[in-house]
Amino acid sequence: MPYITVLLNRKGGVGKSLLSVNLAAVYAEILGCDAAEAETAGDGPSVAVVSIDPQGTSIEHAEKVKKAGRPVPFRVVDASQSIDKLRRLRSAKADIIIVDTPGFMPLKAEDDEDESIDPLGDGTTGDALRAVLDVADDVIVPLEAEGSAFTPTRVTVERVLIPRQIPYGVVVNNWDPRDGTADRDRTISLVQRRGWELYNATVRHYKPHTRGITNGRFCTQYESNHIATKAKQDFVSLALEHQLRRQKHAGAR
Ligand SMILES: Nc1ncnc2c1ncn2[C@@H]1O[C@H](COP(=O)(O)OP(=O)(O)O)[C@@H](O)[C@H]1O
Ligand SMILES: [Mg+2]
Repeated sequence: MPYITVLLNRKGGVGKSLLSVNLAAVYAEILGCDAAEAETAGDGPSVAVVSIDPQGTSIEHAEKVKKAGRPVPFRVVDASQSIDKLRRLRSAKADIIIVDTPGFMPLKAEDDEDESIDPLGDGTTGDALRAVLDVADDVIVPLEAEGSAFTPTRVTVERVLIPRQIPYGVVVNNWDPRDGTADRDRTISLVQRRGWELYNATVRHYKPHTRGITNGRFCTQYESNHIATKAKQDFVSLALEHQLRRQKHAGAR
């Protein structure tokens, strides 16, 4: 049975797609997944990225990698229009499934506190999100360190995840160490003050990450230099902590 992890945050541009493909790439590398097998769905270890985002950023990223002549060692599935497929995700043949999701319903400020309104919305996106959250083993919530908009993350954690009792963790993403630690520390303390689950792993801001989608590379395929090594290391640490948390909440669902 696959282990299903959903990348979720109502806010766009926080790194859901970037984290999805790079986490999948690291898992595929650790498990020794083969690109040819990923295409033919063979018997070896397998990782899949399932996108329910109509914009399909993670799908586009994988296509760029293929076009650049590099291997995509995991399956990439567009399920933005396939609610039934999503409901059956538990019976999919994969060891690890990472679900990339779109940002969802921007609430009017006054609706944020209205318990009678489902923040996932009632359109196709809302249905797809509800379907994957029903089968999810856990959720990773990326949050940008510069902390411009905290409310979408609060809605995500407190109105979507906590009521469903889905194990989750907030991951501080896109923090640029050159900007000093103030923004990161402030973001971490906001998360702690609300009592949310927080990953110790932080994904720092690195140019190779931003460029990966244009030059067709996952973090496992960056050129070998000091910066690229550090950039990849953040995903290796995230994957390791993700698995340690998985052990901790095993049996919780
Ligand atoms: N850690 C990071 N380092 C560098 N660029 C990043 C990082 N995280 C996100 N980005 C960039 O920020 C933009 C938004 O990220 P994306 O994954 O598309 O967000 P989302 O899927 O949540 O909308 C992209 O251009 C992405 O490359
Ligand atoms: Mg995205």
